[in-house]
Amino acid sequence: MRGCWRQRKEEQSVKKYLAGLAVCLAAGWLAGCGDAEKKEIHNIKIGVTVYDQYDTFVSQLMERFNDYASSKEEQTGTAIGVDVYNAAGSQLNQNSQVEKMISDGCSVVCVNLVDRTEPASIIDLAEKHRVPVIFFNRELVEEDLERWDQLYYVGAKALESGIMEGELAAEAFRERPQTDKNGDGIIQYMILEGEAGHQDAVVRTEYAVSTIVEKGIEVEKLGYAIANWNRAQAQSKMTQMYGEYGDQIELVLANNDDMALGAIDALQAAGVARENWPVILGIDGTDAGLEAVRDGRMAGTVYNDKEGQAKAMLELAFQLSTEGTPGRLELEDGKYIRLPYAKIGPEEAGELMK
Ligand code: GAL
Repeated sequence: MRGCWRQRKEEQSVKKYLAGLAVCLAAGWLAGCGDAEKKEIHNIKIGVTVYDQYDTFVSQLMERFNDYASSKEEQTGTAIGVDVYNAAGSQLNQNSQVEKMISDGCSVVCVNLVDRTEPASIIDLAEKHRVPVIFFNRELVEEDLERWDQLYYVGAKALESGIMEGELAAEAFRERPQTDKNGDGIIQYMILEGEAGHQDAVVRTEYAVSTIVEKGIEVEKLGYAIANWNRAQAQSKMTQMYGEYGDQIELVLANNDDMALGAIDALQAAGVARENWPVILGIDGTDAGLEAVRDGRMAGTVYNDKEGQAKAMLELAFQLSTEGTPGRLELEDGKYIRLPYAKIGPEEAGELMK
């Protein structure tokens, strides 16, 4: 995988540079811009390993990361090499990739853990070679992050996404009473859940449902299936559930947009007329997810700020590589950067797509 995503940034346009600079200035915590010149570091190398390069959200986050690296390079004059590896679902693979990145001279490694309960080998290796690690998107437990003072985490506030998805569901039912297809005043729903044991999956499901109930709406669970964040798996699970419950399903709560889109694929393949579709909600605001919200195929999504996360990761990696500390970046407990989510309806989706 090495090299496939590795990007040299020389060809970036002035326009892109200015856009990057504007974003940089807009964010208060980015006060570290330009510090590299002081240290006269002329090039750095950042290693990244992702749990699965075909995960839509993670791959879009990496695109943004590479874009920010380009802007930062132009803005500071420090050459930034980014080596991206795909762990392809194997923790052992990922451990060896980290070893390789360290022996290749990466000044910091960014790790999207395959198994968030198994960071020990990576942490030991990094500590031995004094190379800081930024874990991202797949959150390890606090005790693991405490194992060494050069470990960081960049992600989002999982709980918030569940609450917002629940609020979107409650709003849809209050604003459009026809979504209660059988008129019994109860929402019959089903869940498409991400990976078992992933911090976002469990928390999103729990808080989405409890929020609807807190809003005073009664709910009844018809079905539940794990579809591993994956569109094709979600389509097949939705096909089964639609076969069993058909029009009784009034709401599909998907833990991410790809699975919401998989549910739509299933309804389309089954020839279900659009006016009979249940309310479908996702999380992420991926490109395809935003398009579906703008077109009304999905009732809404919750924006998982990939730009904010990518930028935070890049800035932190840059600071650590050039200064050896997070500098003036704002970190919770000196270790965490967690970006907020945002609710997205058709209007916001249209705006974001611009
Ligand atoms: C979540 C995201 C999912 C998937 C997962 C991978 O935050 O919402 O779509 O990318 O991370 O860890």
